[in-house]
Amino acid sequence: MKLIQLFLITIIFLAFNWSSLAQTYVGSQACQTCHSGIHNDWNTSGHPYKIQKLENGQGPQYPAGLTSTKVIGPVTYTIQPGVPQPPKGFASWQEIGFVMGGYHSNARFLNTQGYIIIGDSTQYNIPTNKWVRYIQSPPGTQQYAYSCYKCHTTGASPTKTPAFEPYPGIEGSWAEAGVGCEACHGPASDHISNPTNKPPKDGYATCNNCHARDRGTQYTWNYRVEWLPTTVQSVSTGFIRHREQGDMMYASKHHLANMTCKTCHNPHKSVYYELGGIKTSPNCETCHTNKIIPGHGNDKATCTDCHMPNAARNADALSPYVSEQSAHFWKILTDPITMFENLDTTVASGKKFINVDGTTGLSGLTLDYTCLQCHVTQDVIWAAQYADNIHDNGVSVEDGNDIPTAYHLAQNYPNPFNPSTRIDFVLPEASQVKIDVFSISGELIATLVDEYLIAGYYQRDFNADNLTSGVYLYRMTTDNFSKVKKMTLIK
Ligand code: HEC
Ligand code: HEC
Ligand code: HEC
Ligand code: HEC
Ligand code: HEC
Ligand code: HEC
Ligand code: HEC
Ligand code: HEC
Repeated sequence: MKLIQLFLITIIFLAFNWSSLAQTYVGSQACQTCHSGIHNDWNTSGHPYKIQKLENGQGPQYPAGLTSTKVIGPVTYTIQPGVPQPPKGFASWQEIGFVMGGYHSNARFLNTQGYIIIGDSTQYNIPTNKWVRYIQSPPGTQQYAYSCYKCHTTGASPTKTPAFEPYPGIEGSWAEAGVGCEACHGPASDHISNPTNKPPKDGYATCNNCHARDRGTQYTWNYRVEWLPTTVQSVSTGFIRHREQGDMMYASKHHLANMTCKTCHNPHKSVYYELGGIKTSPNCETCHTNKIIPGHGNDKATCTDCHMPNAARNADALSPYVSEQSAHFWKILTDPITMFENLDTTVASGKKFINVDGTTGLSGLTLDYTCLQCHVTQDVIWAAQYADNIHDNGVSVEDGNDIPTAYHLAQNYPNPFNPSTRIDFVLPEASQVKIDVFSISGELIATLVDEYLIAGYYQRDFNADNLTSGVYLYRMTTDNFSKVKKMTLIK
């Protein structure tokens, strides 16, 4: 090779490297003009609200109008972004520097020097509207340094920049507060000046940089899913620790099948407020056909109720087996054991692993978190009678496909609901059937069924998109049967 050629190649190489090194963070605002739809979606997801700097005595700001009611067996709870007031001991928002979260599970606070505020009543939990302790204060302290920035901000760096000098409590610095566009797509100044320089669509920062626990720079998977100890500061707990979706998925067959988070998730949309963050295609039933359980259909429990129960916890326990985040193992272990009997207690330092198979790391959930969340009066021994091959065997063990013996109009499910719910009914003989919905003052709202049907089990959906919140009545009538029930719409 001629020297001049080598020289040119070197120059081109250096220039290329220099230009990629020179990429800077421009901020999510700069993407809005050309990608307004994606910007809107992202703006109502949790990602931008991970940390907010407070200004002019104003409290933290969240997207308006979001609210969601969840029904899990006997547990019903409502979430809505927001924090009612500053934590205990702080008279006004003026005394708070930054707020972390507050979008769906909880909020924590930094003082005006950037230290995390700890102690009694320093964490606000959204599903229960309760103030709780965030970390036991070591004697004489009410704060500790903020090192959480690497997953909560965009362009995080351990080096302090001049803008961060006023905050001794913050260990590093960042380019933008919250998980902005460039947290996933990388610094995009080249793209702004010339859109044909495309930022990576995937792979810059995978979801698992943040949605997995204890990944160092080496980023080696240790097939570890952490379980909260039986007691934390003398409060009894349980539950999978939060932000372990990546660890759980690595212990599942979905990972072995090369699925990734974006197989199911739209990365720009929220799942908490049902804003389309879970893709409708492919969904579970695209890939797994014929999985409706005989005698225990979708009206009783959906695929995610059993396979992704709320067994992970960031804020509060809402019942012994229900918290606010879903498990991402999918597999259900059918042995009659509880989760506490499924932990590797030989591991030091209080960290416990769940059913780890040394070769593949495959793991799963026990029947307590899977079935007893709804069947609250039963135990794992009861559940284990049905769990093996449940999709083939079904749950009505005695009379699998028998003709029903009595009329029945079931309670709608879910209830309360928004905006749609399902009503089951049973006919022991062929009948002309009518099911009407009325307002509480007796005005006819809708007719769900008006037809001649043969004996059997039926279900109908009722959609209340155009109705206002309140109690409604539904009535089933045949020649030999009539029954009225109440249902509650909460928008
Ligand atoms: C001046 C308008 C403009 C701005 C500002 C802009 N983009 Fe783009 N972006 C485009 C266009 C046009 C395309 C499509 C390019 C193509 O397909 O040839 C694109 C494509 C993309 C893609 C897809 C790349 C691919 O492989 O399909 C990503 C990711 C992206 N932009 C991210 C961003 C981010 C992040 C920002 C803000 C930092 C941003 N864009 C700001 C115009 C813009
Ligand atoms: C949590 C990570 C994450 C954040 C934050 C994020 N994106 Fe994306 N974005 C992705 C991933 C992953 C894809 C690829 C999606 C796919 O292939 O299905 C993508 C795809 C895109 C595309 C290609 C078109 C499309 O819809 O697939 C554009 C354009 C884009 N993002 C722009 C933006 C802009 C602008 C923002 C900020 C308003 C943003 N992204 C924030 C992860 C993210
Ligand atoms: C390894 C990345 C990572 C680190 C480090 C991290 N977090 Fe998070 N955090 C997340 C992710 C991902 C979520 C959301 C998903 C989840 O909770 O499972 C989250 C959620 C939260 C929430 C709830 C947000 C809401 O809107 O309800 C708070 C509050 C929070 N983290 C505070 C902290 C604090 C305080 C620290 C430092 C002591 C910290 N985090 C360190 C990744 C991280
Ligand atoms: C097979 C589909 C699927 C895959 C793959 C998947 N998720 Fe999910 N994820 C869901 C569903 C469905 C929900 C909502 C569950 C609910 O509403 O109870 C969810 C909820 C979440 C939530 C909200 C909090 C919670 O835990 O309920 C986070 C965060 C999340 N997923 C992150 C991830 C990450 C990160 C990955 C990749 C490591 C991933 N998910 C892979 C289907 C999936
Ligand atoms: C830079 C770190 C980071 C990356 C990368 C990241 N996340 Fe997150 N994610 C977070 C944090 C922090 C939260 C908690 C924010 C909140 O909701 O207050 C969160 C929350 C979520 C939530 C729950 C909030 C909601 O609005 O539904 C989902 C779902 C989610 N992430 C999915 C993903 C997916 C899918 C990817 C990859 C395409 C991804 N995240 C990449 C840090 C990250
Ligand atoms: C894109 C296709 C696809 C989607 C979507 C999908 N799965 Fe899977 N699932 C697979 C594949 C492939 C396997 C592995 C099959 C095997 O190895 O035998 C699998 C395995 C499973 C297993 C068996 C796990 C084990 O370790 O035995 C369960 C349970 C499961 N999926 C449930 C679900 C649920 C629930 C959903 C919806 C939230 C879902 N899947 C969505 C493709 C998918
Ligand atoms: C009532 C709880 C429940 C519901 C609802 C449920 N499953 Fe399952 N599923 C189980 C249990 C328990 C097992 C374990 C059976 C075994 O290992 O013998 C299982 C096993 C599986 C498997 C792996 C074994 C197999 O049969 O291939 C897949 C895949 C699966 N379910 C998909 C789904 C899908 C898709 C849905 C929604 C249509 C769904 N499940 C709804 C409880 C449930
Ligand atoms: C989301 C709630 C929910 C989950 C999760 C759930 N079920 Fe059910 N199940 C119901 C409802 C509702 C009924 C019908 C009413 C009743 O009798 O309790 C039912 C009925 C049954 C029945 C027949 C009636 C009875 O009580 O004998 C069996 C057996 C059963 N479920 C087993 C299971 C098993 C095993 C699991 C876990 C693999 C499970 N269920 C998970 C809601 C649930």
